[in-house]
Amino acid sequence: MEHFTAVILAAGEGTRMKSDIPKVLHKVCGVPILAHVIRAAQQAGADKIVIVVGKNAEKIKEIFAEDNIEFVMQEEQKGTGHALMQAQNAACESSHFVVLYGDMPMVTADSIERMARFHREQKAAATVMTAKVSDPTGYGRIIREGMQILSIREHKDATLEEKAINEINAGFYCFDTPLVFSALSKVENKNRQGEYYLTDVVEILNRESKKVVAFELKDPDELHGINDRRQLAQAQKLMQKRIIEGLMEEGVTFINPDTCMVNCEVKIGRDTIIYPGVMLEGSTRIGENCTIIGQSRIKDTIVGDFCEIISSQIDECILEKGVKIGPYSNLRPGCNLSCNVKVGDFVELKNTKVGEGTKIPHLSYVGDGVLGKHINIGAGVIFVNYDGYKKHQTIVKDNAFIGCNSNLIAPVTVKAGSYVAAGSTITKEVPEDSLAIARARQENKVGWAEKRRNIIEGGTKSDGK
Ligand code: UD1
Ligand code: CA
Repeated sequence: MEHFTAVILAAGEGTRMKSDIPKVLHKVCGVPILAHVIRAAQQAGADKIVIVVGKNAEKIKEIFAEDNIEFVMQEEQKGTGHALMQAQNAACESSHFVVLYGDMPMVTADSIERMARFHREQKAAATVMTAKVSDPTGYGRIIREGMQILSIREHKDATLEEKAINEINAGFYCFDTPLVFSALSKVENKNRQGEYYLTDVVEILNRESKKVVAFELKDPDELHGINDRRQLAQAQKLMQKRIIEGLMEEGVTFINPDTCMVNCEVKIGRDTIIYPGVMLEGSTRIGENCTIIGQSRIKDTIVGDFCEIISSQIDECILEKGVKIGPYSNLRPGCNLSCNVKVGDFVELKNTKVGEGTKIPHLSYVGDGVLGKHINIGAGVIFVNYDGYKKHQTIVKDNAFIGCNSNLIAPVTVKAGSYVAAGSTITKEVPEDSLAIARARQENKVGWAEKRRNIIEGGTKSDGK
C-alpha cells in the first residue's frame, strides 16, 4: 500500500446548493459527501488527512473529529490554489501528497492508490487524474502534448477550441511537496473568476521544465462532482447502483434494485432476498437467507439468519435467527428479539426483550417489557408503561398466556406458566401457574330483551296506527 498525506479542499461555500448546511455535509447514501472522500483516502493509504475548511468549519469539525484528521482554515474563499496554500505547514512533512476535492464523493480508494503509485513510478512533479467524458461542460480541460500536461484551462476561461477538448480535470492530484508549494506562490488571479486556481501550477511547473503527467481514469462515474441538488441526486443514484451491485456480487438477490435504498455501511448475507421498495440504513446488518418485503425501513439494526420482515419499520434493534415481523409493525429502539420470535401485524414494540419462540401476533403495544420464552400475547394487549411522569417495566415470565385486550399496568410481573384472562386489567403480580381475572363479573338478565321488545313494540301498536 502507498503511504501519503491527503489534503481535501472543502472550504468552498457551495452557494449553488442553496442550503444552510455546508455542501460537503449533505448526504449521499446515508453518509456526508466529505465522509466518502475521507474514507476513500484512508483506504488508499493516507495516514494523515488535512481538510481545508472555511466559514462552516465548526459544523464540519464536529462531525469529523478524528485523531488523524487535521483542519486548516481558509478565511476567505479565494480559489482552490489559495485553499491548498493554507495547508502548506500541515502537508510539508511528506515528500509527496495527494489533493482531493471534498465535493467529489464517487472517487474510489483504488483510483487514488493507483494514482499515487503512478506518480511515484513516473517521478513526476505533478500527476493529474483525468478522464474523457461525453459532456465536459463546467470542468477544467486538459491540454497535453503526449504524456506531458501543458496546462489546465477552466471552462470559463477556455477558447472555443479548448472547449472542444473532452479530457477533463477530475480534481484529484498527486504533487511533489516542495515543487508544488513553490509553484503555488507564483499563481496569480488574472482570470474570469478572479481566483487563485490550483490548476495554474501545471503551467508554472511546465515553465520550469518539470514533469506533469495524466493519470487517466476509465470510469467517468468516479468524477461525478456535486455543486447543486440535481448533481446530489445523480450522485445518490450512481452510488446506490455501486453499493447494490457490490451486494449482488456477494450473493444477495434484489428483485428490483432501482427501487431500493441501501446505505453504504449496510451489510447483507448471501441468499437474502430484498423485495422492491426496501430501505436499509445506518449500520444495519442483515444475515443470510432472509426475506425483506414491502416498504420496510430498517435502520441501525442487526438481523440474524432466516428472518422474514414484511412492510415494517425497525430502528436500533437486534433480531436473532428465524424472527418474523409484520406486516405493518413498528419496532422502536432497544428491542432484542431471540430466536423464532414472531411479531405480527400492527404491533408497536419499544425497549423490550423478547425470549425465544414468544409470539405477539396482532395489534399490541409492548413497551419497556421483559418477556420470557414461549409466551403468547393475545390481540390488543397493552403494556401500560407510562404514568405521565415515568416509564415502568413489565415482566412476563416463560410460557405465560396473556388474553386478548388485557392491560398490564407497570410496574407489574406475570410469573411463569400463568394465564391472564382476556379483558383483564392487571395491576398486581400474578403468581406462577395461576389464572388472573381482573374484569367486571358478567351478569345475565334472562328474558330482559324480550320484555323490552314487548313494551316498545306493543306500545307502538296500541297507538292505533
Ligand atoms: C474544479 C477545478 C476544475 C475541475 C473541477 C472538478 C479549479 C480551479 N478547477 O472546478 O478544473 O474540472 O474542480 O470537479 O481547481 N474550494 C476551497 N476553497 C476555495 C475554493 C474551492 O476549499 O476557495 C474547494 C471546494 O470546497 C470544493 C473544491 O475546492 O470542494 C473545488 O472547488 P469548486 O469551486 O467546486 O471548483 P470547480 O469549479 O468545480
Ligand atoms: Ca466542484
